[in-house]
Amino acid sequence: MVVDFGGQYAHLIRRRVQDIGVKCELKGFDLELSEIKEKAVKGVILSGGPSSVSWKSKARLNFDLRKFEVPVLGICYGHQYIAKEMGGDVATGKSHEYGSSNVFIIERHPIFSNLPKQFRGWFSHGDSVILVPKGFRRIARSENDESTAIANDELKMYSVQFHPEVSHTEYGTEIIRNFVIKICGCHKNYSKDDIIPQIISEIREKVGGSHALCAVSGGVDSTTAAVITRTAIGDRLTCLFVNHGLLRKDEENTVLSVLRDKLKLNVEYVDATRLFLDSLRGVTDPEEKRLIIGRNFARIFEEFGNKHPEIEWLVQGTLYPDVVESTVPYPGAARIKSHHNVAGLPQKLGLKVIEPLRDMYKDEVRELAVKLGIPKRLVYMQPFPGPGLAVRIIGEVTKEKLYVCREASEIFEQELRRSGIQRRLWQAFAFVGDDRAVGVTGDNRRYGYIVTLRAVKSKDGMTASFATLPWSLLDRVSRKITNTIPEVTMVCYSISNKPPSTIEPQ
Ligand code: XMP
Repeated sequence: MVVDFGGQYAHLIRRRVQDIGVKCELKGFDLELSEIKEKAVKGVILSGGPSSVSWKSKARLNFDLRKFEVPVLGICYGHQYIAKEMGGDVATGKSHEYGSSNVFIIERHPIFSNLPKQFRGWFSHGDSVILVPKGFRRIARSENDESTAIANDELKMYSVQFHPEVSHTEYGTEIIRNFVIKICGCHKNYSKDDIIPQIISEIREKVGGSHALCAVSGGVDSTTAAVITRTAIGDRLTCLFVNHGLLRKDEENTVLSVLRDKLKLNVEYVDATRLFLDSLRGVTDPEEKRLIIGRNFARIFEEFGNKHPEIEWLVQGTLYPDVVESTVPYPGAARIKSHHNVAGLPQKLGLKVIEPLRDMYKDEVRELAVKLGIPKRLVYMQPFPGPGLAVRIIGEVTKEKLYVCREASEIFEQELRRSGIQRRLWQAFAFVGDDRAVGVTGDNRRYGYIVTLRAVKSKDGMTASFATLPWSLLDRVSRKITNTIPEVTMVCYSISNKPPSTIEPQ
């Protein structure tokens, strides 16, 4: 069982355990101890979280840690929580570590079985363990000589400051496997092959004899949701593709031809450019933009539903990262950004919502899409956010900035495709804000936009690192942008990882 202290990666820990083939449940930290006994839980992982153990209102369990009576692994906040609760000490804000850093193993311990003495761990914390509790010992240290991992074999309590669940931690899955299999003694009892029939029967059960509308964007998530729903309910499914005027160059034509001609989905098209751009006029706050976009989508779905009274359900391709970044896990915890398809929908939509992929990550959806026979070109396409270019335009969405963002992205993507690098990236795009830079062309002064290029590598969108692109390619892209888009006077390259940045700038 994973106990969620409100961390971004709590669900990812669950996924990693299930990837190993062991059933795993995610529970809020307000769980009752009796659940551990009733469900015969074999081990507990305490997740990270945004609070600090020094806060009065910190996320805490209702009972003493020792009462679990099964092996416990603490991660990040879980590490600090164990240290503090067991009599050690934690310093707030002593050092901040975000991103990749070295972990040095001090002692060969079963939790580090099959690992080298040194590896890269992914950190995201402001507090640190400064006093190891009695009965515990340091089994790994960080570059700053902090207690990165501690253990108490008698109590079977272990904890690590870094995040073994994120793909950027080397040997992270190995550490989780060591805990789950070697220390907890779990056996394999979960398989991913059960998932397609399970989703289909859930959709059939919900929709019954009625009709559903699936919001499609041409991306892998909504396409997979549509194809699996069609398998479940046949021609009682109608798809709706909304052009919000925030799409990439020529995107509407490509999407319609793939969905209608290749996948033979029944797709209706609505051009709502006016509605979206009008409602975004004068809006500069990123969250406000996202909420307006979500509400506009909802309005269109509702109107469509009103014209087709047989439709009772709205199917969306929401994934788990959309949910986790959009929700506030408990009062006082952090919302990162409101993904349009989660937080933007009003409480009373007039349609009941089905999100068949809500528990999945992009790489899992891609595997599912391949199994469903969706063309690989679509499956491995780069993700594009539902709110479109609005989240790549910092400040107000204006026609001019839209034009700059669209053209610059197209140039960047084209060059990446040509060089074969595109396939190795999670996402690559251009973004633009209101900052301007003075330029000189010929003998003339120009005062134009600054365009930033961003290309990242990631496995699931939860963490990401910027891609080290060849200078010659960046040079080509920069020249092409400033030569063909006179409104631009400077091109930059973003060299920030997630964390501390997010992938999209807004
Ligand atoms: P961030 O920017 O939060 O993005 O690091 C993680 C991944 O999610 C995509 N993204 C979205 N996708 N609706 C979506 O469908 C949204 O509102 C949204 N916001 C971000 C982003 O492109 C990246 O792949």
